[in-house]
Amino acid sequence: MIDMNTKYEKLIKILESEIPFKPEIGLILGSGLGDFAEKTKIIKTFATNELPDYPQSTVEGHKGYIHFAELNDKKLLIYQGRIHPYEGYSIAECVLPVFIAHRLGVKKIILTNAAGGLNHLQPADLMLITSMNTFNIKKELAQLIGLATTEMRQRFFDFPSAKINSIIQSAALKEQVLLKEGVYWYSSGPSYETPAEIRMTQKLGGDAVGMSTVHEAVYASALGMEVGAISCITNYAAGISPNKLNHQEVMETAELVKEKFEKLIKKIIELF
Ligand code: HPA
Repeated sequence: MIDMNTKYEKLIKILESEIPFKPEIGLILGSGLGDFAEKTKIIKTFATNELPDYPQSTVEGHKGYIHFAELNDKKLLIYQGRIHPYEGYSIAECVLPVFIAHRLGVKKIILTNAAGGLNHLQPADLMLITSMNTFNIKKELAQLIGLATTEMRQRFFDFPSAKINSIIQSAALKEQVLLKEGVYWYSSGPSYETPAEIRMTQKLGGDAVGMSTVHEAVYASALGMEVGAISCITNYAAGISPNKLNHQEVMETAELVKEKFEKLIKKIIELF
C-alpha cells in the first residue's frame, strides 16, 4: 500500500503554509477547458513545476497551475491541467490533485474532461457522467486506497454523487444549457481507440470514451468527497466519423463549447 501522506508530506506542508484560505470546492479542468479559471477571482496561483514531487503534465492544453480562487463567495481550488496514466505516471501520481484537495478540506469536487462521443453524443455536446467503467484500474486503486475500513469499501463506488448530479441538472436547466447524459468509458491510451475497440465499447454500454477522470472519481469518493463529472464531447469516437482523430480537433471543439461550459460551471458553483 502506498502512503500518500508520507509520499507527499513536503508538498502538503508547503501548500498548508502558503494557501490564502481553505477551499470548499475542487474543480479539475480537462483538455482545452482550462480557461474557466480566468472567469474567477484568482487569489493565489501555484505553478506545479515549482512544487516538490508534483508530476508534470506533458499534454498540450494542460497548463500545470493550481489556483485558489473565489466565485460568488465560494472558495475554490482549481486545477488547470491534469496528469494522465498514459503519460507514464502511476495512479498514485495521477490522483495527487484529489489527494491535495482532500488534505486541504475540499468536500465537493467537479471533474471535467474532453471525450470522444458514441451513440447519442456529438462533438460540442456536454455530457453529465452517470456512470463509468473501472475495470483497468480497480486493482491499482484498491492498493492505493488500501480499502482499510468497511466505510471506505462502501464508498469506493459511491460516485457520481446523486445529490451533485441533481444540482448539475438544475444548473443546466436554469442556464438553458443542453446537458446530455451518459456513461464515460475509460480507455488507458496513450493512443486513441481503434474502430473495433469503439464498437466493443458501444456494446459494453459506453457513451463517451476518454483517458482520465475515472481514477480521480473513485479515489475522491473513497475519501468521502461528493463527486460530479462532466465530459465535453470534442470529437466522434474512432470509426464513427471517417476522419482520423487528432488532439488539435479536441482542442478546437473545446474552444467552441467554452462559453456554454463556463456558464454551466459558474451556475453549478453558485448552487453548491
Ligand atoms: N478517445 C479518447 N480520449 C479522448 C477522445 C477520444 O476519442 N477525445 C478526447 N479525449
